[in-house]
Amino acid sequence: MTIKSEREIKLMKEAGHINYLAHKEMEKFIKPGVTTFELDKKIHDFIVSHDAYPSCLGYEGFPASACICINDEVVHGIPSKTRKLKNGDIVKLDFTVRKAGYESDMTRTYLVGEVDARVKEMVVDTEKALYEGIKQVRPGARIGDVSYAIMSYAHSHGLSVVEELVGHGIGTNMHEEPDVPNYGEKNTGLVLKEGMVLAIEPMLNLGKRNVVMLDNDWTVVTEDGSPSAHFEHTVAVTRDGYEILTGE
Ligand code: MF3
Ligand code: CO
Ligand code: CO
Repeated sequence: MTIKSEREIKLMKEAGHINYLAHKEMEKFIKPGVTTFELDKKIHDFIVSHDAYPSCLGYEGFPASACICINDEVVHGIPSKTRKLKNGDIVKLDFTVRKAGYESDMTRTYLVGEVDARVKEMVVDTEKALYEGIKQVRPGARIGDVSYAIMSYAHSHGLSVVEELVGHGIGTNMHEEPDVPNYGEKNTGLVLKEGMVLAIEPMLNLGKRNVVMLDNDWTVVTEDGSPSAHFEHTVAVTRDGYEILTGE
């Protein structure tokens, strides 16, 4: 994996900030009746208007600017003109922003209208699990420390951890070394160093951890149909800890 210079991290933070602002902007469009195609267009136009590129578009043939997943869809949902949000849904917006050659990756799970209390709790706990993982990041810590923190938070809050999909390094490419699993053991794996940048992204399910791929060869859903939540930030390892690059 690569070590980024201060200059490179500054560029990644510019990409990450646009990603954060696009997520903030989307809050006002999340309501019953809107199609996932319309949400994708808003994301596309917001990013392009900030002189940046929504780099999911065309990535290995992906046909849209954002992965948009509802309820039991875990990752890589394809925006659709016939798919409308409805009251009680949860919707995940996962997209990358490339600016000046550098990538950022961020996901949030949004509530649509009145959501069942247990599902809402899962969403809150998945975001907390992400922050438990992020808090581990500092030079000398290991990938397994991040993985273990996420896993133990998930399990102690009654959630299962998707194992087939993992976080990743990020830089000039959206996906770089190393893998950042959301399950694992403390004190194992790669030792973190200042200048590494990771996309940390727990995907936690209310039911069983198992997932299956749909016929479109992109979208992954829970096997038991239970809802799944997903949060992601792009995080740099700094001299004394971490910095979230997909923030304010
Ligand atoms: N943003 C996803 C991730 O978290 C990757 C999406 S790739 C795409 O790693 F092609 F589906 F857009
Ligand atoms: Co992502
Ligand atoms: Co990612």
